[in-house]
Amino acid sequence: MASTVLPILASPFIIFYLLSSFSTILVTAEDQGYAKSLDPKLLRLEKQQLTRFHFYWHDIVSGSNPTAVLVVPAPSNTSTAFGLVRMFDDPLTVGTNMSSGLIGRAQGFYASASQKDLELLMVMNFAFTDGKYNGSSITIQGRNPVFDKVRELPVIGGSGLFRFASGYAEIRTHTFDINTRDAVVEYNVSVLHY
Ligand SMILES: *[C@@H]1O[C@H](CO)[C@@H](O)[C@H](O)[C@H]1NC(C)=O
Ligand SMILES: *[C@@H]1O[C@H](CO)[C@@H](O)[C@H](O)[C@H]1NC(C)=O
Ligand SMILES: *[C@@H]1O[C@H](CO)[C@@H](O)[C@H](O)[C@H]1NC(C)=O
Ligand SMILES: *[C@@H]1O[C@H](CO)[C@@H](O)[C@H](O)[C@H]1NC(C)=O
Repeated sequence: MASTVLPILASPFIIFYLLSSFSTILVTAEDQGYAKSLDPKLLRLEKQQLTRFHFYWHDIVSGSNPTAVLVVPAPSNTSTAFGLVRMFDDPLTVGTNMSSGLIGRAQGFYASASQKDLELLMVMNFAFTDGKYNGSSITIQGRNPVFDKVRELPVIGGSGLFRFASGYAEIRTHTFDINTRDAVVEYNVSVLHY
């Protein structure tokens, strides 16, 4: 009985407490001159748009010019390489061939984050270098169960043309060389931005 009644009694107080402390912070911040509320139109944030990208991500771990390097080996010999961390600066191209147009690079790391299956935590920025996107970036962080046919990774932000970005990427392994462990992955990235 008590365990069901207590949260009900407590919740309005908690909400009141949260609201009052939140508005105190806002008022104080405005008073101190380091924060103020703005009309989004001042930043020309009027028309949200949706951009869909299609490109290929090349992860080269073999040879003398790898684009992905091991920074932390798996601490124990498990089939999922749990604990492994690899840093990458991978080319992004319009086609599957590495010499098709380069549009930017994916810079970040992936870490083997599952003890049971091969699942990666992916953290990366797409640093665009082509055309109007040159200098802008999109940030991805998500879970990549690499043996699933299609994986979905959240877009969590961006810079330049992609300020306030949100969205998702759907990815599919195009080729994976079992001997070299080099991979080419197809990316479809849908991004809402202004
Ligand atoms: C890791 O485990 C596999 C399978 O049990 C075994 O074949 C291999 O020799 C082991 N490698 C090391 C470095 O212990
Ligand atoms: C990739 O493109 C290069 C240059 O256009 C070409 O020589 C090569 O055969 C292509 N590779 C594949 C696998 O299609
Ligand atoms: C991208 O921007 C950089 C820095 O402004 C510039 O040096 C470079 O030439 C640009 N690249 C392309 C392909 O426009
Ligand atoms: C990406 O989009 C293209 C075109 O719509 C589609 O053919 C392809 O299957 C999609 N790939 C993924 C991984 O979603």
